[in-house]
Amino acid sequence: MQTLTTAKRLLGPGPCNASPSVLEALARPLVGHMDPEFFDLMESTKSLLRKLFQTENKVTFPVSGTGSSGMEFLLVNFLEPGDTLVVGVNGVFGGRIAALSEKLGANVIRVEQEWGRAVDLEAFNKAILERRPKIAALVNGETSTGVYQNVEGVSDVCKETDTLFFIDCVTSLAGMPVCIDDWGVDLAFSGTQKCLGVPPGLAPVTISDRALNVYRKRSKPTPSFYFDLDAILAYVDGEGGRSYHHTAPISMAFALEAALQEIVDEGLEARWKRHAEAATYLREQMSVFGFTPLVPEGERLNPLTTLYLPEGFDEAKVRGALLNKHDIEVGAGLGPLAGKIWRIGLMSSNASKVSVDLLVDALKGYL
Ligand SMILES: Cc1ncc(COP(=O)(O)O)c(C=O)c1O
Repeated sequence: MQTLTTAKRLLGPGPCNASPSVLEALARPLVGHMDPEFFDLMESTKSLLRKLFQTENKVTFPVSGTGSSGMEFLLVNFLEPGDTLVVGVNGVFGGRIAALSEKLGANVIRVEQEWGRAVDLEAFNKAILERRPKIAALVNGETSTGVYQNVEGVSDVCKETDTLFFIDCVTSLAGMPVCIDDWGVDLAFSGTQKCLGVPPGLAPVTISDRALNVYRKRSKPTPSFYFDLDAILAYVDGEGGRSYHHTAPISMAFALEAALQEIVDEGLEARWKRHAEAATYLREQMSVFGFTPLVPEGERLNPLTTLYLPEGFDEAKVRGALLNKHDIEVGAGLGPLAGKIWRIGLMSSNASKVSVDLLVDALKGYL
């Protein structure tokens, strides 16, 4: 059996490296999922997550599963066949929301934008006003292109049309501003393996009271066992006792809580600033080799930088050498950007000058 022992520096689109306190939490002795000690930890996690999401939403907790499980959990509970969903599509993850919504029988209206640019909010808001959808969805941090989506003002249109405002903040949460209440977001999901610095395996979600009222009016029960909101709330909510639904991923819950404590201790604004400074330094250093940004200033996702490659650069060969000889992972382009860009993640503890210097030093041998 092969054992992976080398510590790699994960500078791709996620996962990123976990901090020592997170690794220590993962190694803690297990407790049971009905142990009151575990419920205390869950309450602490929920309250810390509210700070990260900047929300008062009572229903805020980690769904079991990776980021996609957060998306699926929200859509399966809040969309019914025949409902309309408007979604901004400017990369892989907007496309994924559209594809799942179609599988769930929704009428999907895509507001398309070229990859590498933010969705045009005028066109997006116009589609909401015309179609009056049940859900309007945007990807706040598009990891396939490195775009950070401004969402301000969308919720006014959503309120006017009785639409629930949904965002994917998998790559933005704890790396750039995510202000659920100020932005008027009703449904949001994230993942643990990006700016939270935890291994993949949990999907923090938050749900507004306004959305809960809509959920209560479903015509049929949610067609899922694992993601059934009411059944899960009977375990995570704690009011009137807790009933078993599925076995909670105990060690991941330990790790998430340790990471959240660390993030709150650092301070959200300081953390956003650290991610911004690391991304700026990366772009400056990489420009010397001829790498140029895909995304215009003002639309850039600091935790994940996308750069066009220099002329004649054998990206697959160098990416392989970085991984195999230098233990540094960077990400390739996806879809139409394959072979054209690199995606470099500076997330959580990797959002530092040290990470950039390691990458740049390693690259010098190939350019
Ligand atoms: C923006 C975005 N949304 C959703 C996902 C899906 O998350 P996961 O791969 O953890 O299921 C990812 C993963 O990279 C992502 O970057």
